[in-house]
Amino acid sequence: MEDPRIPQSATNHVFHSWSTHPQLDLPEIVGGSGSTFWVSNGDRYLDFSSQLVNLNLGHQHPRLVEAVVSQARQLCTVAPSFANSERTEAARLIAERAPGDLNSVFFTNGGAEAIENAMRMAKLATGRPKVLSAYRSYHGATAGAIALTGEPRRWASEPTIGATVKFFGPYLYRSAFDADTTVEECDRALGHLESVIEMEGPHSIAAVFGETVVGTNGVLVPPDGYLAGVRDLCDRHGILMVADEVMVGFGRLGEWFGVDRWGVVPDLIAFAKGVNSGYVPLGGVLIHDRVAAQFSDRAYPGGLTYSGHPLACAAAVESIHIFEDEQILQGVRRRAEEVIEPALADMARRHPSVGEVRGLGALHAVELVKNSATREPLVPFNASGAEAAPMTEVLTDLKSRGVWPIAHFNGIHLAPPLVITDEELKSGLAALDESLCVADGFVVD
Ligand SMILES: Cc1ncc(COP(=O)(O)O)c(C=O)c1O
Repeated sequence: MEDPRIPQSATNHVFHSWSTHPQLDLPEIVGGSGSTFWVSNGDRYLDFSSQLVNLNLGHQHPRLVEAVVSQARQLCTVAPSFANSERTEAARLIAERAPGDLNSVFFTNGGAEAIENAMRMAKLATGRPKVLSAYRSYHGATAGAIALTGEPRRWASEPTIGATVKFFGPYLYRSAFDADTTVEECDRALGHLESVIEMEGPHSIAAVFGETVVGTNGVLVPPDGYLAGVRDLCDRHGILMVADEVMVGFGRLGEWFGVDRWGVVPDLIAFAKGVNSGYVPLGGVLIHDRVAAQFSDRAYPGGLTYSGHPLACAAAVESIHIFEDEQILQGVRRRAEEVIEPALADMARRHPSVGEVRGLGALHAVELVKNSATREPLVPFNASGAEAAPMTEVLTDLKSRGVWPIAHFNGIHLAPPLVITDEELKSGLAALDESLCVADGFVVD
């Protein structure tokens, strides 16, 4: 299958994200249905990336399309200063599915704005200036969100807004704490966070931000007990716990919210992407009653022209109904257990290039190494150009087999739409299995 090329005009005037422009060579997507999309030269791909891990209900779900179209016919846009039935209903449905007493929703246009507003709320509610976040995290590309981000995409934006401090979260395969077991990793990561809090001065810390399962930076699933431990540390010091569920909220882990898996209730949850599969941009912050109460006798100093946009909220309302009618959460859990996890475990046994497979629900990573004993990554941290060539070769091979993956550094991530069928999933996994032979070719003993 030829690598599809776009006409020159696509890069003449569009200034693309995170890209070196003259080198940009993008396929032109022209249509999609369910878990498949197709590009201008006719090639079709199984979308193992859900676009940018947002397309939870797949391409062109007829009910979602209809929800947007019928709302467009009725009323396309409403200022936030008016009530609007779609916004009201979306907030009710989201709050009803949120854990604990997170009963209010502040709507944004996407994930980074959700993080910005969560940070503002936390600082105002506690009267404290500082926020903590993890290395190996991504929280968005606006000023505050990029400051919280714990990976190389932050570097070009430094110096950042300040008063942001990083800590290491759990990642047993590359433990920052020399741990050998999950229990050790959990205990030591919590001990480390406690030390950071102590050294920074608990009275100065408004919030600890964390991705419930770290997404882009490796699909790092926290050990049981870790999130409860963070909750406990926050409670002991009057610090707010903020869960970034932009990638994992709304079904990606087989739960409405990732924290449900561990029964932990944060003070704020940032969401976006899967809330309406991105048919119209939408994000937001779910707010615990005790934080919302801080704004009962003073105005919340934040807002957006398109907060709770009716087209986006109509899609969110319909999306939640579809989740229930099509039993999406149950399907994610079943497919993880019956199809994805056994297949990945089998690949890990057979391919010397696979260092570790990990994940939950419909979000998994295959971490590739040059040597499984030393765990040297297949490509160096933050590699680009020639250094990244081995990963590029593996990914190109996978695309040539009709599967569109998402990848980060030395990891291939699997994030298919939650509506993918067992047959589609099996065929995508079989293609991945073949492509891992390319990675095996780079293994050195
Ligand atoms: C965990 C997480 N937080 C925040 C964001 C930023 O969201 P957005 O790109 O909608 O601003 C992302 C985007 O990928 C994300 O994965």
